Amino acid sequence: MKRRLNGPLLVFGGPYSNLEALKAMREIADMRGLTPEQCLCTGDVVAYCADAKACVDEIRNWGVPVVMGNCEESLAEGASDCGCGFEEGTACDLLSKQWFDYASQQITQDDRNWMAGLPRQIDYSYAPFRLKAIHGGVDEINRFVFASQKMIISEELLKADVDIVLAGHCGLPFYQKVGDQHWINAGVIGMPANDAQPRSWYCLIEPDENGLDVSFHQLAYNHERSAEKMRQAELGEGYATALETGLWPNLDVLPELEKKRTGQALSFNRFRINP
Ligand SMILES: [Fe+2]
Repeated sequence: MKRRLNGPLLVFGGPYSNLEALKAMREIADMRGLTPEQCLCTGDVVAYCADAKACVDEIRNWGVPVVMGNCEESLAEGASDCGCGFEEGTACDLLSKQWFDYASQQITQDDRNWMAGLPRQIDYSYAPFRLKAIHGGVDEINRFVFASQKMIISEELLKADVDIVLAGHCGLPFYQKVGDQHWINAGVIGMPANDAQPRSWYCLIEPDENGLDVSFHQLAYNHERSAEKMRQAELGEGYATALETGLWPNLDVLPELEKKRTGQALSFNRFRINP
């Protein structure tokens, strides 16, 4: 599937069953006058928060292209967990099993069929650039790729064989350039970025006569309401608190550098991508 782009592209990751965040994202897209085709979700529509079914309904109703996340893959297959590959018995493993069972009970067979039909990659042409949207790694849906892992990024970029990769899954927004190739992770909207801010992040790519302008933006939404719903659903305190404090309940998946940055406010400049 190859899509041709002319105007701006709004990229967002992981709604994570956070309906308030997803609705806020849609409102921003509408405010900017962006059509669904000018938006992209990099997967994991369903995860930690309380509104699994409502988020699936919202995103299907919105009609934005969605790349399959490991959460969609696992729910579509009727698997027993989210497929993140967390080590058995770790905090991540236990927390993910909890929301997974809850989400699995909410969604319908029709939702699972929709998830099963999602593309694993979406190719864009954004003259003169070639882009590929994926979830984790190019061949591995649940591969964590973080900003500090330049070797992994260059390996993945080599496989992708395009100018720009738009990725998700890791939960943290970042931009990296390796040679002439670019890796953009828009972050996720359904959880904060472990930066002690309750707001989450998304990315906007805007073309001009000289190339592309890439900017990262914070998404403010009613996180108190999302946290309250998680508590009502008894989904565990860890991620409900994270929505309020902006700090993740555990850091198992993070490389050392990202661990050290816990609680530090993210500040992004705009990035230029020139032909
Ligand atoms: Fe994921």
